[in-house]
Amino acid sequence: MNDGSGPLTPSPLLVASGNPGKVKVLRGYLDGLPRELRFLTDFPDIPEVAETGTTFEENAVLKARGYAQASGLQTLADDSGLEVEALGQAPGVYSARYGGPGLSDRDRCELLLRNLADTGDAARQARFVCVVAVALPTGETELFRGERMGCIAECMKGEYGFGYDPVFTPEGHARTYAQMEPSYKSGISHRQAAMAAAVSFLLRK
Ligand code: IMP
Repeated sequence: MNDGSGPLTPSPLLVASGNPGKVKVLRGYLDGLPRELRFLTDFPDIPEVAETGTTFEENAVLKARGYAQASGLQTLADDSGLEVEALGQAPGVYSARYGGPGLSDRDRCELLLRNLADTGDAARQARFVCVVAVALPTGETELFRGERMGCIAECMKGEYGFGYDPVFTPEGHARTYAQMEPSYKSGISHRQAAMAAAVSFLLRK
């Protein structure tokens, strides 16, 4: 309990992502924040919040508010995905579930490449989107969006990263995300802009 003689210690921040690849990356962005971090693995009894929204914003808010309410902690959640021009912006918010259950990241990349087999360069344009939501247990929520334009490569290239990293070449670069050192990708990615704004907000809170 605070006896009024010293500054209030900020409460821990819950980083609410169940994707181990993303947790690692989000952790890196939060390194400079003078806050203790908690993860969903610290709360095994909290049921998973379903991503029933149809936009990145809706899903990020659902997750941040749901886990903030269940944990009683300020909570950061993100929703992200890949939008491909030739596929009418699919897989979009369904990126993690593209092709149905039971597929690996590699299977999903292969499916995406097969679905683009007859597609010319212009329509291989794509963008990665990341929306970060920060929710207080009271329900107040702030949103931050980051985007990175690019195109879908002809084949999978590179071994780093996760998800669609092997098939996405960001604009102005000759390499896919998966060919970039993780620290380099972190500096230029769709998640970078959203997380920089979220961290700057959290530093003021
Ligand atoms: P969610 O945000 O956890 O719903 O899932 C987003 C999905 O989009 C991930 O499972 C990946 O398939 C994909 N994704 C999001 N960000 C990235 C990224 O930086 N690299 C590769 N794939 C990503």
